[in-house]
Amino acid sequence: MVNLHGRDFLCLKDFTQDEVQYLIDLSSEFKEKLRKGIEHYYLRGKVAALLFEKPSTRTRSSLEVACYHLGLHPMYMDVTTTQISRGEPIKDFARVMDRYVNIIVARVYKHSTLEAMAKYANAPVVNALSDFSHPLQILGDLLTIREKKGLEGIRIAFVGDGDNNVAHSLMFGAAIMGLEIRIGAPEKYQPSREVFEQANKIAEKYGGKIIVTSDPIKAVKDVDVVYTDVWVSMGFEKEAKERIKVFEPFRVTWDLVEHAASDFIFMHCLPRHEEVTDEVFESKHSVVWDQAENRLHSAKAVIYALLKE
Ligand code: CP
Ligand code: NVA
Repeated sequence: MVNLHGRDFLCLKDFTQDEVQYLIDLSSEFKEKLRKGIEHYYLRGKVAALLFEKPSTRTRSSLEVACYHLGLHPMYMDVTTTQISRGEPIKDFARVMDRYVNIIVARVYKHSTLEAMAKYANAPVVNALSDFSHPLQILGDLLTIREKKGLEGIRIAFVGDGDNNVAHSLMFGAAIMGLEIRIGAPEKYQPSREVFEQANKIAEKYGGKIIVTSDPIKAVKDVDVVYTDVWVSMGFEKEAKERIKVFEPFRVTWDLVEHAASDFIFMHCLPRHEEVTDEVFESKHSVVWDQAENRLHSAKAVIYALLKE
């Protein structure tokens, strides 16, 4: 029986296949409850701190709605309005929040900020995106892939910035579920050796496969899922000009996806910029709205799993 009570949720690589499977199942159960109008105020009276150092559309709103549906109060904190912006140490913030709230969710620039929070707060800490990973996103995405394609023998291509948070988490998530994941990225933006080795070790354990290539066609050849993300992640705006030039051959165009399986699905964590053409984004292959919806159900699953007694 999986029990995640009190755990932090910083990176998917910290979880076993059974645990991730449990969270996907739970997400699906919450989705069904909402569809049927079954109330689920299981965490009434609890409070979640939602600290954001960066902008957000989906993560913030799905978390706030998830909290509301579960009966928790979501306390949104824009970092610029806290004393952190004037130099208050994160470890002090964590120790104070620990006295007020039951769970701390944070979107941060540096992953080490989350690790410091987790070290100093007894309350569970949830990663709402860091420079290293975006596990809430990929948990919802695994539910989407399962709904559309099942999770047996699926091949996924991530095309674009292979060294960003979403690519990292997709590698870990796919590896944990025993899937094949191909990263198609320019050499300079491929996953680091360290991340590759971490993901590969997990893939070996669960029968998954990780392939990294600088050939976008090789990446998408016959795959079931084509996934992309922005070329300029939050925090990298200064590099925009150079990045857009280097990533150009990795744009998800109709010519590229013609190499995927004929019934492939297109996924994007959103927001989108220039990395995918409208032709692909608006096509019948695109599942981006279901994918965005599933963020709500998976956010709920994580908060509930970490807090339920
Ligand atoms: N996909 C995602 O995390 O979106 P936001 O940046 O809008 O939260
Ligand atoms: N890689 C993107 C994801 C946004 C949800 C970023 O970090 O900006």
